[in-house]
Amino acid sequence: MIAQLFEMTFGAAPEVIVRAPGRVNLIGEHTDYNDGFVLPAAIDRSIGFAGRKRAGRVVRVYSTDFDASAEFNLDDIRKDTQNSWSNYIRGVSKYLEEDGHRLSGADIVFGGDVPRESGLSSSAAVEVGAAAFWNNLLHLGADPVGLVKLARKAENQFVGVPCGIMDQFISGLGRRDHALFLDCRDLAYRHVPLRGDVKIVVCNSGVKRALAQSEYEVRLKQCRESVVIISSVMGREVKSLREVEPSDVEAARSALSDVLYRRARHVVMENNRVLEAVKFLESGEVERFGQLMNAAHVSLRDDYEVSCKELDVLVELAWKQPGVLGARMTGAGFGGCTVNLVRQDAAEAFAEAVRRGYQNALGLKAETYICRASQGALID
Ligand code: GLA
Repeated sequence: MIAQLFEMTFGAAPEVIVRAPGRVNLIGEHTDYNDGFVLPAAIDRSIGFAGRKRAGRVVRVYSTDFDASAEFNLDDIRKDTQNSWSNYIRGVSKYLEEDGHRLSGADIVFGGDVPRESGLSSSAAVEVGAAAFWNNLLHLGADPVGLVKLARKAENQFVGVPCGIMDQFISGLGRRDHALFLDCRDLAYRHVPLRGDVKIVVCNSGVKRALAQSEYEVRLKQCRESVVIISSVMGREVKSLREVEPSDVEAARSALSDVLYRRARHVVMENNRVLEAVKFLESGEVERFGQLMNAAHVSLRDDYEVSCKELDVLVELAWKQPGVLGARMTGAGFGGCTVNLVRQDAAEAFAEAVRRGYQNALGLKAETYICRASQGALID
């Protein structure tokens, strides 16, 4: 598909095709930028890149999703305010060059089926896809984790969104039929098999994440502020909430404002939930895994306050369905999607019931995707 679109656009066959998946996070929300633990899975929706080298230093890019073209010169890569969709590729290209990789002119066509602004990390998929594309086209031999970090840098510094590393990491290093357990402090990771008789069902609220960026920045700041206060109560220097135990948060309760107390409590408890959840996944105790997902939602809703009415409706509907093991909002929040773990034989009926219930409750249409965990773009 992407290869044909390339031929139609540039009149020749592509030399390289790569695909970078979107992701869903099973548990471990708003923990990555606190040096904590996450457990995402790459999904079977991806952004494809097709391209070939061309003489000189100009890169021409066509986005199938925006039906728009842009071009830039590798010797002078700047942000494009008009074709902002191209900035992910510009940023990745710029930082690869800065890292000493000499890129060449290229023609690129990219696009796919990761819904945008839905909390399924379409932008991380574009960044990681661009990194994988250059790596394959020019045989750069770059280290996958290094490329993941570079993709995140493009998002943070070039595009200007202060995200953690989870989304780029899973888009690069996800494995088919596995979740990925990542320690965001030292980037140690391992793949955890998902049981074949359990499905990941994603429900898209259709609510674009309007508040997501500004509120995300507020949460980041609140976490940092809480660390300073908790650290002083603990009487030793603590760099992040990762190093804080629930008892430390309780001990600092009177020194913290109510909001900071609840923010810190969410992060610290969520880290513990991830560690437990990984054990349950590894031992096949999916019911107990699902209960932790439910608890994570309550904490995101009440303590971290990043849910919204539509996400809560989707989750509450999910909790009532037969065959559901766990349900919660996923990603940054304020719209986007829920993630649900559902017994395979109940998955279709579950998806239909949630769509119908959502329509009845709010008059809104939800899309549902029954997902299979997929391979990242940077591993073979
Ligand atoms: C967004 C960010 C991630 C992570 C999640 C919340 O998806 O890009 O880095 O912080 O929100 O868990």
